[in-house]
Amino acid sequence: MGKSLTRKIIESHYVSGSMIPGEEVFLYIDQTLTHDINAVMTYLAFEAIGLDRVRTECSVSYLDHNLLYVDHKTPDDHIYLQSAARRYGVYVSRPGNGICHAVHVARFGAPGKISMGGDSHTPHGGAIGMLCIGVGGMDVATAMTGVPMRLKMPRVVNVVLHGRLRPGVNAKEIILEMLRRVTIKGGLGNVYEYTGDGAAALEVPERATITNMGAEMGATTSIFPSDDAVRRFLRAQGRETDYRELLPDENAEYDEQIVINLDQLEPLAACPHQPDNVKPLREVEKKPVQQVFIGSCTNTSYADVAKAALVLQGRHVNETVSCTCAIASRQTYKALMHDGYIDMLMDAGLRMLEIACGPCCAIGQTPATEGIAVRTSNRNFKGRAGNPNAKIYLVSPESAAATAVMGTFASAEDILGANVAKLAGIREPEGYDQNDNMLIAPLPEEEAAQVEIVRGPNIRPLPVPEVPEQELHVPVSLKAGDNVSTDDITPASAEFSSMRSNIPMMSKFCYHRYDPEFAERAKAMGRSIIVGGENYGQGSSREHAAINPMYLGVKCVIAKSIARIHKGNLVNHGIIPMLFEDSADYERICQEDILEIHHLLDQIPEKRVIVHDVTQGFDFTVRLDLSENEIEVVLSGGQLRFLKKQLDG
Ligand code: F3S
Repeated sequence: MGKSLTRKIIESHYVSGSMIPGEEVFLYIDQTLTHDINAVMTYLAFEAIGLDRVRTECSVSYLDHNLLYVDHKTPDDHIYLQSAARRYGVYVSRPGNGICHAVHVARFGAPGKISMGGDSHTPHGGAIGMLCIGVGGMDVATAMTGVPMRLKMPRVVNVVLHGRLRPGVNAKEIILEMLRRVTIKGGLGNVYEYTGDGAAALEVPERATITNMGAEMGATTSIFPSDDAVRRFLRAQGRETDYRELLPDENAEYDEQIVINLDQLEPLAACPHQPDNVKPLREVEKKPVQQVFIGSCTNTSYADVAKAALVLQGRHVNETVSCTCAIASRQTYKALMHDGYIDMLMDAGLRMLEIACGPCCAIGQTPATEGIAVRTSNRNFKGRAGNPNAKIYLVSPESAAATAVMGTFASAEDILGANVAKLAGIREPEGYDQNDNMLIAPLPEEEAAQVEIVRGPNIRPLPVPEVPEQELHVPVSLKAGDNVSTDDITPASAEFSSMRSNIPMMSKFCYHRYDPEFAERAKAMGRSIIVGGENYGQGSSREHAAINPMYLGVKCVIAKSIARIHKGNLVNHGIIPMLFEDSADYERICQEDILEIHHLLDQIPEKRVIVHDVTQGFDFTVRLDLSENEIEVVLSGGQLRFLKKQLDG
């Protein structure tokens, strides 16, 4: 049998380990990316490791999420990040250049490379035949040292796309259809590799909408072949020399196959409060919509925004709707401006926002209480928009524009009728602006060594976890339900994002919307355990969802299942992730029960641990779904201690 594209890239970066799905493999990483609201911890960790310079082919620090300088905290972060980048040989993408994923695929990505990014939507870059993996910030710091990175060898699922999308139906519908079928946790441990005549017909930005939002399935990543569409994209970026054809073998072996006929797709919506709660748009109850946001890294390509503009052309945003647009990169914004589409949007009464993540991560444009918000972004968890009482629906840019006009859910066809066909004529530009003056290149080594790192008052030291002990006798500080997201653990929003460099302050808000008393309770308990349901820690790669509980004394999370990136973050930050062997035991434990574990350090390597619930008087078994390497990290008391031991030794 032939090889999948995923396997070919993994083999070309292989260092050691097993290529059997589910087992651990170690790979060289070519590129890394970080962004401003997660990265301070990453660079503090890199400083603590003690190397003089990053050892990747290219690492980029993007300042893109929080550009609202409402007080000193965000500028403190940005100045620290810029100085750390200059010190350690990292590119900086300045505020206003664009959102990390859009800029990275356009200006740095190349087929066949592997990148690791401190953001769960790093798989965006899979659109050009790269293997791009979202991880926590500590893993990015590790990758920047050049040491081979561990990865659970994925199962590779072939998604065969047939046919063509009808006008008014967007690549968003393909990924929403995938989410409907696979669900938010069905992708765990998988890479989704797209092929077929329908895949070949998609342009790179359409592919990126799919690979970006593949993160919502919990997948390791998603990838498209590097073919003519990738060549066209790189040529338009003035980077055709970075192109190389990279396809799966014709008789490639896959672990599973999914087939989607694109002609049969219709406009869809992910309804509150999970991205897999997908319905045909025509079936969504026609309630008044308060807010429409066309933006985010997911769905603001040139063609996306141009199509939305054509829906709005000659019409006006409904007077009951607040409609905003944030385009993902400066080069796309300029192309749209050049071709008159920004005029169309503004003439229709839409408000143009900064080139940044902004509302996607609750930095501005919070919806009203009980307000219905329609967005082109990728997540609709409770509170994702900054108001847990709001309801977020995820749709395509065409549907979002139509909804803005109607004031309730509508598709492009509802507005344009037979004229919807004109949307099919929109193509990506043949050339993008290639002015990289918003990128700061790394300094030569000698000059870099002289750079002083600037630490404003918002930059606080990185907390380092304790090494685990043999005996644990601690209470349950929280019994959480299913699908707790990293947004539930550490809320998004301008206010909280800018606290991420200051754990003593931010930890006070840990779980504060989910359980406002958690932080105080956990602190008073001193050391504790969190009990969780299914898919604990889903959502973003935010490692603060591990750092804050660790800082509050949480030693273990015992859950029915734990999302991939969050599990890695727990390990890295010294919290032991444990899984109920029998899910029924979850029901028997109550918050504030005392749990006892004897000989913990002897049990950890066995990957099975007996826990005694002192309060209820029963024993139960938990599994450690961890690799040998992760076991060593756990026993060392987190990745920083482990890595220092390795590099020193
Ligand atoms: Fe930013 Fe939202 Fe994408 S926070 S990186 S636009 S998912």
